[in-house]
Amino acid sequence: MTDLVVEAKDLRKIYVMGDMEVHALRGLNIEIARGEVISIMGPSGSGKSTLMNTLGCLDRPTSGEYYLDGEEVANLTDDQLADIRNRKVGFVFQSFNLLPRATALANVELPLRYKGGITPKQRREMAENALESVGLGDRIKHRPNELSGGQQQRVAIARSLINDPSIIMADEPTGNLDTKSGDEIMEVLLKLNQDKGTTLIIVTHDPEVAAHTDRIVMIRDGVVVEDKK
Ligand SMILES: Nc1ncnc2c1ncn2[C@@H]1O[C@H](COP(=O)(O)OP(=O)(O)O)[C@@H](O)[C@H]1O
Ligand SMILES: [Mg+2]
Repeated sequence: MTDLVVEAKDLRKIYVMGDMEVHALRGLNIEIARGEVISIMGPSGSGKSTLMNTLGCLDRPTSGEYYLDGEEVANLTDDQLADIRNRKVGFVFQSFNLLPRATALANVELPLRYKGGITPKQRREMAENALESVGLGDRIKHRPNELSGGQQQRVAIARSLINDPSIIMADEPTGNLDTKSGDEIMEVLLKLNQDKGTTLIIVTHDPEVAAHTDRIVMIRDGVVVEDKK
């Protein structure tokens, strides 16, 4: 039996806006094995971000079944959803989403503040290790505006892995970077996968980014239209 980290069946997501309904996911099925590196591609508006938000437990599907790491999550309360998200998912966004006034160290420590049983000293050590693992051991006191775009994204990656997630979800992680910085970010992500076995789900428009991944899933109108390894 394959060890599935994501198992989603017949996912539907309807956004209701006044008397209008948007059907963003229309019965989408996807299975992702532990340790896989997968890219999700598709035209604008096809439902990629909605799928990421659903798989990442930021939002719930309107209907369907979803098991993350074997835990059923489609019907959890908001608090339960936040708990499983904090334990199992790391996020990397196109726009980095760092706190502008906080140092790299403070940005990476942030997710640990919501977790009990960790001393400030342990928190600092964990954040330093995470920054070292993305090659930023000598930049821990820098603030975002003192770092290049690629370095800022590496801080975001360090933050995403601080809770030792089962999955890292990256929505256009290289979208705001030049080619060289984008390549470096892909290298950092792929190395994480190799060293720790972290499953990577990467939404991208860029065929070159997708070419680095084991599997490419194409989405259109809220369903998977192609899935190739
Ligand atoms: N919060 C929302 N409220 C209403 N409609 C939304 C919301 N988020 C996305 N949509 C709509 O759902 C569809 C899919 O959007 P999205 O998942 O963002 O696609 P993609 O990331 O592939 O561009 C689009 O038609 C979009 O306008
Ligand atoms: Mg999107």
